[in-house]
Amino acid sequence: MRIGILTSGGDCPGLNAVIRAAVLGGIKQHGHEFVGIRDGWRGLVAGDVRVLNRSSVRGISRVGGTILGTSRTNPFEGDGGGPANIATTMERLGIDAVLAIGGEGTLAAGKRLSDAGIPIIGVPKTIDNDLDATDYTFGFDTAVQIATEAGDRLRTTGDSHMRCMVLEVMGRHVGWIALHAGMAVGAHAILIPEQPRSIDEICDWAQQVYDRRRAPLIVVSEGFRLEGMEEAHSHKGLDAFNRPRLGGISELITPEIEARTGIESRSTVLGHIQRGGAPTGADRVLATRFGLAAIEAVHDQAWGQMVSLRGTDVVRVPFADALGTLKVVPEERYREAELLFG
Ligand code: F6P
Repeated sequence: MRIGILTSGGDCPGLNAVIRAAVLGGIKQHGHEFVGIRDGWRGLVAGDVRVLNRSSVRGISRVGGTILGTSRTNPFEGDGGGPANIATTMERLGIDAVLAIGGEGTLAAGKRLSDAGIPIIGVPKTIDNDLDATDYTFGFDTAVQIATEAGDRLRTTGDSHMRCMVLEVMGRHVGWIALHAGMAVGAHAILIPEQPRSIDEICDWAQQVYDRRRAPLIVVSEGFRLEGMEEAHSHKGLDAFNRPRLGGISELITPEIEARTGIESRSTVLGHIQRGGAPTGADRVLATRFGLAAIEAVHDQAWGQMVSLRGTDVVRVPFADALGTLKVVPEERYREAELLFG
């Protein structure tokens, strides 16, 4: 078989480890051939590909980003878009199947194309860890690690000046990165989208810490809403999928904390640093296992499915199961963390 691999949507540490494992596994186990499709669905629509062989994937599992490039192109739009055109392009290029590595938007497009007869297998990715059909996604561990290191650094400067430090992390509409990094760094409050809180309560936690002669550290998720806010804070317009671009809630909260408590306060928005650079060992392992399992799914022609982690097993689930439901932080996980706030 000749298999096309694409990475689509936002990049995520571990994408290259999936590509490497799929190519090596496919060549070694089954003698498959591979092409890399450039810039996600854009490359499939435009027929823009490059050959992938053993030497193209040498040493890439430790490299962040994606060697194939990515985009947020909708494969149903533009010249060459839609299942009929894509089937023609695949035939012309001799591509028998597509391995699509992406988040919810990519998997949704993959489902539509697969329903229309294009042979596709999916691999889920997102630093947000918000896909319900898999226990973990690669990229999440790296994001938590980077956020934890940032929190540790904020603590030493915060302690030196007795300032309240507020660290904003990504995660879109779920609080997994904030919850895990916040717990790892010993934050005095963790604010997540699933659990709106009042500014009074946040100030109260900060004050308790300050009164013990400690510098408060607060970790806030970009999607956090103060009580009374209907939507997550967004002042940067919409992304390519018409979703609000989040970020900046810490810039609202931090001056409020300072004004209400008198504690000098500083905000840090970590941003895309969480997505860049080398994946952690755990993410390389998960991504490698996903890549190997995805190639077996291609080999078995299990079209319309994606690989997923259940416990410690990598299994297959239909695309449909991966869509629609966000994996939110359960109430009890937040209650557990909240025991140590203040
Ligand atoms: O979904 C991953 C993510 O990094 C979110 O945490 C964040 O809100 C968003 O993507 C940022 O997207 P962009 O790279 O388009 O700014």
